[in-house]
Amino acid sequence: MSPYPRTRLRRLRENAALREALRENSLETRRLVMPVFVIPGRGKEETDPRLPGIIRASADRIPYLVERALGVGVISFLLFGVPGKKSPRGEVALSGENPLPAALKGVKQRFPETVLAADVCLCSFTESGHCGVLVEGRVDNDRTLEILSAYAVLAAESGADVVAPSAMMDGMVQIIREALDERGLGGTLIMPYSAKFASSLYAPFREAASSAPVFGDRRGYQLPTANGREALRELLADEEEGADILMIKPALPYLDLLSEARRRTLLPLAAYHVSGEYAMVKAAAREGHLEEMEVAEELFLSLFRAGADLVITYHALEVAEWRARQ
Ligand code: PBG
Ligand code: ZN
Repeated sequence: MSPYPRTRLRRLRENAALREALRENSLETRRLVMPVFVIPGRGKEETDPRLPGIIRASADRIPYLVERALGVGVISFLLFGVPGKKSPRGEVALSGENPLPAALKGVKQRFPETVLAADVCLCSFTESGHCGVLVEGRVDNDRTLEILSAYAVLAAESGADVVAPSAMMDGMVQIIREALDERGLGGTLIMPYSAKFASSLYAPFREAASSAPVFGDRRGYQLPTANGREALRELLADEEEGADILMIKPALPYLDLLSEARRRTLLPLAAYHVSGEYAMVKAAAREGHLEEMEVAEELFLSLFRAGADLVITYHALEVAEWRARQ
């Protein structure tokens, strides 16, 4: 017996070549999904102090943003339509007031090699700011499904490869799958926001997407932040209904669910590192407390380690540009 300690774990990481050879996970740009906000008008680009570094652009400008991201290896995009007008039930999502279809068409035509996902929800379109149709002051599940599935079909017809319903309505995956298949859109993927929590970390996004509820909150449809088992039921139900990719949102506070979901399903998993999570890193970096890119890499590695295949992040472009320079 050799003298204590016989176990020499440090041998494995003694030099850079060993560390590189034995690295278990990497931050790969191809796995990052870039959120894109589409606003009405032409030739418009805006920034928002609440989401620093994020550009909201009109449909005609979106292909330039995409081109820049493609140039550094980002291939997937999640588009949000921010309309000029709202309506009581959110049907403006289906009208010319919604700049999303034009953006999808423009990008798909110029860059067919992208993976284009469309957020499908009503909260940017309803006067109430809720994710669905109100009946007697409460979001009505089945009335919401009708508009949601029509919106999913419109997005798919406009060029979305993936529709991402985020309203947390029961049965939304199944009804969208049926609607797509009926229209000959059987090749369109569905990536529901399956485990979407009623989180306080969405505040910056709600400004950028103009989607804050006018009254009340989303606790009647989004998940209680304390409940892990209930979140798993949502994930498994979406798989059962025919989802192609499952999403967990927010990301870092729900790592337990990501790793549990990884054990329980064979579907690809997406983690959405949301606007509030992004804002925390940005603010700390601005104060000089953190090395932003290194922190971002460490955070995203935790998501990949836990089982994410895709990470949706406002850092996508900046991290991709940083990695391309290395
Ligand atoms: C809307 C939607 C939200 C986000 C994505 N889609 C906000 C919400 O549910 O209020 C949050 C994204 C983020 O904070 O980055 N259904
Ligand atoms: Zn919504």
